[in-house]
Amino acid sequence: MEKLTGFTADSPFDLRNSEEYSDWRDKKLSAGKRALAAGFVEILDPMNMRDSEVEAILSQCRDTNIALYSTPPESDDSILRGNLRAMAERLGMGEPEGHRSKGEAAIVALTVSNRPSQRGFIPYTRKAINWHTDGYYNAPDNTIRGFILHCVQDAMAGGVNQILDNDIAYIRLRDENPDYITALMHPQVMTIPETHEEDGTLRPASVGPVFHVEGDDLIMRYTARTRSIEWRDDPVTREAVAFLQNLLIEGDPLMLEAKMKPGQGVFNNNALHNRTAFDPSEVGNHSRRIMYRVRFNKRIGST
Ligand SMILES: [Fe+2]
Repeated sequence: MEKLTGFTADSPFDLRNSEEYSDWRDKKLSAGKRALAAGFVEILDPMNMRDSEVEAILSQCRDTNIALYSTPPESDDSILRGNLRAMAERLGMGEPEGHRSKGEAAIVALTVSNRPSQRGFIPYTRKAINWHTDGYYNAPDNTIRGFILHCVQDAMAGGVNQILDNDIAYIRLRDENPDYITALMHPQVMTIPETHEEDGTLRPASVGPVFHVEGDDLIMRYTARTRSIEWRDDPVTREAVAFLQNLLIEGDPLMLEAKMKPGQGVFNNNALHNRTAFDPSEVGNHSRRIMYRVRFNKRIGST
């Protein structure tokens, strides 16, 4: 897919443009505050979204890159998968990315699994998942720019998702020290070494920036993991990474938090997110929780 790289002339992401940055920052912070009270956009019929529902999702994604939604719970799996694809299409997200664990309609079921290809991988356990953006280990030609996370069945306890607009993380870093942005935009700042995939194949090392800009859009690639990751060896980078890590642990007033119920989900432009552990009282590797995830190389609509 064709993508724009680099800044536009009056980009707020250009560190020299303090006025544009200040305007954009004000808008983002007020939109973030409004979003805390916005709740879930109700979608009555996912197969036939109303224009007002589409517009509500798109405008929230334009403002904050994130839109929580709620649909009537659907127990027929093939209807549910069709619903997710239909909503994605209405929102202009294009074709989902191919994924090794994808089921029917490129939808991955995140659930506790004892399948040999998934056993022991954290997404398929009851363990917490640390802050990250999706596909941070992908090659640059397979950048994940949006995804849907949809709750099919919630956990009995726990399994809460937190999500933070990447633009807000950028603002906190830039306000603390603009040099942090320069460090995190370095094209070799973050390396995920090569590793064996869930299916045993070798995934090559992934080297790239944390933040990069495509036209008006800020794209983020990040994981809070501390093992199997190499940061550029430079004092400012170390400080920037520590600051970001700390922000996510301490929490930001504009973070959204949801324990999604069946039928609820989130559309987002690959925002930072995590998940808490769940169902500690279950015995063995077992829980009823099922989340469906669909990833896209495109962002949502025209956002
Ligand atoms: Fe994720």
